[in-house]
Amino acid sequence: MKVLGIETSCDETGVAVYDTAEGLRAHAVYSQIALHAQYGGVVPELASRDHVRKTLPLIRQTLAEAGLSTTDLGGVAYTAGPGLVGALLVGAGVARALAWSLDVPAIAVHHMEGHLLAPLMDDAEQRAALHAGRQPEPFVALLVSGGHTQLVGVDGIGRYRLLGETLDDAAGEAFDKTAKLMGLPYPGGPQLAAIAQQGRPGAFTFSRPMTDRPGLDFSFSGLKTQVLLAWRASDQTEATRADIARAFEDAVVDTLAIKCARALDATGFRRLVVSGGVGANRRLREKLHALAEQRGAAVGFPPPVLCTDNGAMIAFAGALRLAAGQHEDLGVQVMPRWDMATLPAVALA
Ligand code: KG4
Ligand code: ZN
Repeated sequence: MKVLGIETSCDETGVAVYDTAEGLRAHAVYSQIALHAQYGGVVPELASRDHVRKTLPLIRQTLAEAGLSTTDLGGVAYTAGPGLVGALLVGAGVARALAWSLDVPAIAVHHMEGHLLAPLMDDAEQRAALHAGRQPEPFVALLVSGGHTQLVGVDGIGRYRLLGETLDDAAGEAFDKTAKLMGLPYPGGPQLAAIAQQGRPGAFTFSRPMTDRPGLDFSFSGLKTQVLLAWRASDQTEATRADIARAFEDAVVDTLAIKCARALDATGFRRLVVSGGVGANRRLREKLHALAEQRGAAVGFPPPVLCTDNGAMIAFAGALRLAAGQHEDLGVQVMPRWDMATLPAVALA
């Protein structure tokens, strides 16, 4: 079955076609970063309007790249939440209307389930096993994006236990805010990470929040304040900015790694998958590879383009649910807040 995936939860329009027989056929992402940069953050109404402009052209482009027409589609998957309500409604409306006109089922996908399953889509063996009806070996998922930082115990597809989450800023949000206070343009996370490459390790030291007590929750807002104080008291040169960026990145990466190790211990699982925009961070990838190796565990990351928001992960999660017989009725409903633990389990076909 070929499934069209549509992602419009925030500031990226993502469209993809996933084929349960052949894997990802084509995907395209249009980022609204330039539109929001002058405001220093995402403006919800502008985001919705831009999704209105971009969704249909991206669908045409993606189908053309895949060499397919709408009549080849066996289903349409769309992000129904969590996210910005207006932005979600654009994708949901287009998806539902398209599915209705083609007389194929539509499926509402949880954005974080998309992120969480993305690493499995990229692994041909895992993909084949899932489509042959075999559940994956249980794993711990670290979801680290601009809006979320969560550790999730995955007992099967659709069977998710929240093990821990951030009490304030998400890791990506902390990257972006820290970059901003050191004068980098929005969204500064990837730029901060790039600058950190030139920083000297140990030139500055920041704390590893909430690692001195048991538990799997995170808190990143205090780190931002530590950086602000260090930056204000410094000579504010490029070299110092790089040193501070390095120390900040080390603190976030260490904190995430410590909690991942605890989550593996708590669940007894031997597999870790990492997804969400911060999963593109090189140092985090290196650190978690080393951690997994030390413990004889496995770690999986999707390629960086599938870590950040995209339609492919939505098409894939939707395809697994559609293949199991799940689908929506004709209503267009979105869930700006949506607890992943309430999702129905998926009995693989
Ligand atoms: O998953 P995503 O594309 O969107 C959300 O659902 O939030 O994640 C975007 C977040 C942003 O906060 C961005 O700064 C961060 O991921 N990010 C990074 C890197 N690339 C993206 N943070 C640290 N290092 C990176 N290389
Ligand atoms: Zn995301």
